[in-house]
Amino acid sequence: MRRRLLVIGNWKLNGNKNTITNLTITLVNTFCNISKCSVAIAPPVMYLDIVKRYLLNNTHIQLCAQNVDIHLSGAFTGEISAEMLQDCNVRYVLIGHSERRIHHKENDAYIAKKFFILKKVGLIPILCIGENKREYDSGCTQSICINQIKTVIKLLGIEALKNSVIAYEPIWSIGSGVSASPESVQMVHKSIRDYIASYDVSVADEIIIQYGGSVTPENVTQFFDQKDIDGVLVGAASLNANSFAMIVQTAEKHKKLYLS
Ligand code: 13P
Repeated sequence: MRRRLLVIGNWKLNGNKNTITNLTITLVNTFCNISKCSVAIAPPVMYLDIVKRYLLNNTHIQLCAQNVDIHLSGAFTGEISAEMLQDCNVRYVLIGHSERRIHHKENDAYIAKKFFILKKVGLIPILCIGENKREYDSGCTQSICINQIKTVIKLLGIEALKNSVIAYEPIWSIGSGVSASPESVQMVHKSIRDYIASYDVSVADEIIIQYGGSVTPENVTQFFDQKDIDGVLVGAASLNANSFAMIVQTAEKHKKLYLS
């Protein structure tokens, strides 16, 4: 099975009109020849439309949103709907990011509702999962991750994972400068894929499982070298055009792309 490497830059709550425009223009120019891997950027929602304008004639970079509401419209002050994101040419949407689980108290059942609404309108959910330091230290990483996926499967069925993405991001690694070891990430990804395969082998074979947590141009190759790591979700390093470009170029040239 051939899975395209997927590199996404999550800009989180950073930037302004000026820096976001400059970063986008640089990336559009840098990535005009990218064809073997998939690339997306996730600016703050305020700037999706600005970024969209620069991406219009560029099919190499997709738009990703950082969040979505569970409703499509109505009296939900301050929220953004899946249809609005679609209207802005968004293709991927992050859900379940640990920063939302922690700061906004989002739980698995609520995240599964977001998953549902994205599938309903035809957007691609990126289901972020991962354990905290205490869970990591007590050796329950795999069961934590599986449980976070299980809620979606129980509510929506295994078919919902078709054309969806999972991003494994150990919470202790995010923004810390300490990435998980590629071997340990491979083990987690394999256990996730095996779990999905226990429902449906072809869904397991096709699903993209990204790693996120202090990914840099220096360490990214080791992640791509692992069989079940199909891409990276990059935070801090994606705010720097050179660093993000190096990560994308590494994906574009990686030998994995030529394996079947
Ligand atoms: P860092 O790459 O800054 O660790 O962030 C990872 C992340 O949270 C991406 O969603």
